[in-house]
This record gives sequence, structure tokens and C-alpha cells, in this order.
Amino acid sequence: MRSASLIVDPAFRIGAVDPRLYGSFVEHLGRCVYQGIFEPGHPSADENGFRRDVAELVRGLGVPIIRYPGGNFVSAYNWEDGIGPVHDRPARIDLAWRSIETNRVGLDEFQRWAATVNAETMMAVNLGTRGIDEARALVEYCNHPSGTAWSDRRRANGAAEPYGIKVWCLGNEMDGPWQIGHKTALEYGRLAAEAGKAMRLVDPGVELVISGSSHSRMPTFGTWERIALTEAYDTVDHISMHSYYQQHGDDRDSFLAAAVDMDRFIDAIVATADHVRAVGRHTKRLTIAFDEWNVWYQSRFPGEKNLPIAEAPPLLEDVYSVTDAVVAGNLLISLLRHADRVRIGCQAQLVNVIAPIMTAPGGPAWRQTIYHPYALTSRYGRGTVLRVEARSPAHETSAYGEVALLDAVAVLRDDGGLVVFAVNRDQGEEMAVDIDLRSLPRLVAGEHITVADADPDAVNDQHNPERVTPRRLGDAKVDGGRLTVVLPPLSWNMVRLTL
Ligand code: AHR
Repeated sequence: MRSASLIVDPAFRIGAVDPRLYGSFVEHLGRCVYQGIFEPGHPSADENGFRRDVAELVRGLGVPIIRYPGGNFVSAYNWEDGIGPVHDRPARIDLAWRSIETNRVGLDEFQRWAATVNAETMMAVNLGTRGIDEARALVEYCNHPSGTAWSDRRRANGAAEPYGIKVWCLGNEMDGPWQIGHKTALEYGRLAAEAGKAMRLVDPGVELVISGSSHSRMPTFGTWERIALTEAYDTVDHISMHSYYQQHGDDRDSFLAAAVDMDRFIDAIVATADHVRAVGRHTKRLTIAFDEWNVWYQSRFPGEKNLPIAEAPPLLEDVYSVTDAVVAGNLLISLLRHADRVRIGCQAQLVNVIAPIMTAPGGPAWRQTIYHPYALTSRYGRGTVLRVEARSPAHETSAYGEVALLDAVAVLRDDGGLVVFAVNRDQGEEMAVDIDLRSLPRLVAGEHITVADADPDAVNDQHNPERVTPRRLGDAKVDGGRLTVVLPPLSWNMVRLTL
């Protein structure tokens, strides 16, 4: 058995957890909306056609904010197609995913559904094929009380009160050549600044998210952020980050260390944003909306150009293993560790498409393995994030060099309790972790919950939806200000202590 140690001290404060760190993402992609959250005729469908069983699982996940309606989809989307009487709405080809978009679900339906799952919407505007005018009209439709053309259209469509949507994405992945309306950093930065300015003039209360690089391997990574932010720094509040991870070949050690890459990526974006702040003599400090992150086996996707055009085709329906759940839980640890700068996080996506929740048409809905670390972190990881002083054995990985086998973070809850989230990246050995809690003498006992399995490739599916669930490993007892827990090999863990 390996051994490691952590020191937890309330003085090692990183920052308060913004609950929006536990956000998600619903895109009009594959079966996320249609046959996912929305399936009229399903036995569990409500009067609006939304599945109650799916909504129940979403509530169990604890999702305070949901990004909508894309993703790549938004860059050629006309939001006006999705409002008003459903039978008048046009069907269109969605150019991003080569699908038929029927527009049976639009923003009014989505808003009503989001309220049922206790989530606010993080709305993306189309800065691919469209621009300032449509963006400011959309803010007016959603957030202006009444007495204007667009706000009165909303009222006529059944929403007397404004939606008050706070967070707005200025386009999506505009640095990517695959994006409809792809732009240079300068073109995009100017457009984002002007669209954002107009949107804020309609509603001064909005928070604006500028698109950053689609991922850190983009050739323009870093330069994109510097140029776009130089144009729009004063207008925006957050910079968007996206990152997906998968296991390459049999290199599981590197995959298990994906959070190292996320840490480095966040640090690089913080440095770039702060550079622009210094050069521009700005006082405001930008924060981060990590609004797409997850495990995604992109190597299994044939590429959108090879897709036949179809309505709600099954796309990106990755089935997640125990290993994937451990990595996803570790990515949440990385986001928490940067709580001083990361304000919003969106696991991409919510249902069926690289998702914690899966559905069968006309059949059940179930939780994938990655559901569990997310639900537990969202439920218990609220309060103040504490840096943990860790001593851990390390090993060599081909992707990231030497990497600690233990990764952990702690959250001091407002009720005085403490939660430690920890991952053992060692595939073969248990790890005894000695946690020094002498600075928190009122913590006495709690529980240790793990996501681990003798088979790290085990998955949940329609026929065996509870194959992988969190297990309670036992009581955690503090003795003389110290606590020792044993983390199983290849595991995600939550140690929860109460007063
Ligand atoms: O989440 C799937 C896709 O990944 C999104 O549409 C896009 O923004 C990203 O490349």
C-alpha cells in the first residue's frame, strides 16, 4: 500500500465556490434535446412533452446553470425560428451537426423546462452567421419587461415576466475553422466588443462571456485570447474555456492525469488575461467560464462532414467507465482548486450527448458512471475551497511527465463541516492518506464514499443501470486531529466530516 498525507487548514483559503461551477450544457445536438429532455408521448412526459424521469435525474445531479442552445449549433441558429406557435416554426438544416432542426423546442420551452430543474440559463448568441442586431434583440426578448416589440412578443408567447437571463456567451469557439462564421481573433474581438456593448445597453445587469480558444492545442491558443481580449476587455466579465479528454491507446496513466492538463490550461488563461489587464491598465480582473469540459472519445466520432442528414440522430453517445468517472471527478477537483478565478463550469453535455444521463426512446433513463462524482461534488462541495498541502508519491506519465498519484482539494462548508475530494491515480495499489486536521479541532467524524471498482472498465447501461454506484467505505473518525483513509486503486473519493 502506498502512503500520502494532506494538511488541511482554514488559513489556506483559495476562494468561495460559485455554485455555477456545477453547471451543465444542453445543445441542439443529437438526442440531447429531442429524445433526451423532450419526448412527447413518452410515458413520463409532462404536459409540455418534457420527460419527468429525466428532469428528476437532472435535479439529482444538482445543476444550477445550463448553457443553451450550443455549442457549434448556435453559430448558424436563428433564435426567432424557435418562438411562437410550434406549427408555424420552420424546419431547417443544422449545419454544425448535419441534422434536421424542427424547432419544436425553442427558448421559451427551454426556459420553462429549466425552471422545473431549478437551473438558470446561460444563453449563447450567434456571432457566426449573425451579429449585433440579433444579439441585442434576443436580450430584449428575454430580459426587457414590456412595451417594446421583442418584449411584447415574449409576453404574447406566454411569459409575462422577463426571464432575467444573467449570463450570455458571445458566440462559441469562434477560433475554430469548423465553426460556421469562423473569424480571426481581431474580427471576433471587435464583434464581441460591439455585440456585448449593445447587449449591455439593453440590460446593464448581464454578465458576458468571451470565447477563448477551443482547446489548448489550437495553433492560435494564447494569441487568440490576447488579441480578442485586447478588443473587448472592458465589455466582458468571463473568458470561456473548453477542454475534452480521452484515453489514447492503452496509456491510462496519462488519461488519469488529465486534471494536470486542465490545471496548466487554466493557469495559462489566467496569465494571458492578466497580461491584457496590465497592458491595458484595466482594473477589473476577468474570471473564467469553463463552459465545456468532460471526457469525450473524439477519436470514435466520424466527423460531422461524414454524417447523413437526419432528425435527432444518436451522436456522441459515449458510454462511460469507472476510469472515466474518476477522471471526470478529478477535473472537478481542478476546477475547485481554481475557485478564485473559475466562476462557471459546464460539464458538456447533460443528456445522451457525452452525458451523465442517458435515455432510451420510449424507455428508461439512467445514470452513467460520471453522474456520481458530479452529483456528490455539487451537493457537498459548497463553501470555501482550501488548498491542501499534499505529500504524495509520484510516477512518470508519457503525456505530462512526473505526476502526483494523489490529487485532492478540500471545501470548508458554511455549516462548519469539511469535505475532502481525492483521487488515487495509482491503477494497482491502495493509498493510505493521513489527513492532518489539527487546525479544525471541532471536526470529529464522518463518512468516506468512493467510486471505484475491481473492473475499471465497468459501465452502467439500460439493462444494468446500477452496476457502478458510489460505495460507502465506512466511517471516518478523527483521532487527535488526524484521520487516515485508505483510497482504493484508481478511485475518486469524498471524505465528509461534520462537527
Ligand atoms: O460539446 C460538443 C461540441 O464540442 C460543441 O458543440 C462545441 O462547442 C465543441 O467543439
